[in-house]
Amino acid sequence: MRKKIVAGNWKMNNDIVQSKALIEGILSKKPETTATKIVIAPGFVNLQAAVEQTRDTGIIVAAQNMHQAESGAFTGEVSVGMLKGINVNTVILGHSERRQYFGETNSILAEKVNTALKHNLTVIFCFGEELAERQSAKHFDVVETQLREALFHLSESDWSNIVLAYEPVWAIGTGETATPEQAQEMHAFVRALLRNNVGETIAGQTSILYGGSVKADNAREIFGKPDVDGGLIGGASLKADDFLAIVNAME
Ligand code: G3P
Repeated sequence: MRKKIVAGNWKMNNDIVQSKALIEGILSKKPETTATKIVIAPGFVNLQAAVEQTRDTGIIVAAQNMHQAESGAFTGEVSVGMLKGINVNTVILGHSERRQYFGETNSILAEKVNTALKHNLTVIFCFGEELAERQSAKHFDVVETQLREALFHLSESDWSNIVLAYEPVWAIGTGETATPEQAQEMHAFVRALLRNNVGETIAGQTSILYGGSVKADNAREIFGKPDVDGGLIGGASLKADDFLAIVNAME
């Protein structure tokens, strides 16, 4: 049974006061029991407080990135050891904004994934095509290359710590959500890719999230698709009610 996950990627939003208030809002209204794993990804400076605030609540706190080196002269960067030291054991890697603004290539991401898995972190690995790539019908090739170059060297046991997140770049922050059919088509393609390259077991157990303008009013239809196992939410994760409405849409 694949894990159902709704993760909120806060990006570069919320100072410590706003972070605590948002988490309080989520905690005060989240369903008592839910089969859906709730993940929040505050900015680095808010992670430790978020871990303390969500202790014993079932909510998982994730980092939005980490460096591939375990330590060293990388000014401004954050290492896997720094994250584990504050009990952050989940990390988002490969977000399109990291690829676009910070030059993260598939090979750099392979190194980041390796370092994260070496220290037993769970990785939410983002991938997805640009608008021009979809318009020229290259989106399947692009996605296959992103996954093949960053992940297909992993061993079968490594995959138990991998969650995939399909985020068509043209849907991120634009309000241009992929249709449920477009999401299902790509998710099914990725699951078949896993089946053919990594094996049936991994294909069946790997959660594939959809991200890109998921809102309370479109989440249920997208999440209802057979190969969609949840969502990676940006803007709508910054308000407790909106985020929880998306969590509830998973139920
Ligand atoms: O990582 C999730 C994010 O990229 C999606 O952003 O604002 O389109 O939900 P948004």
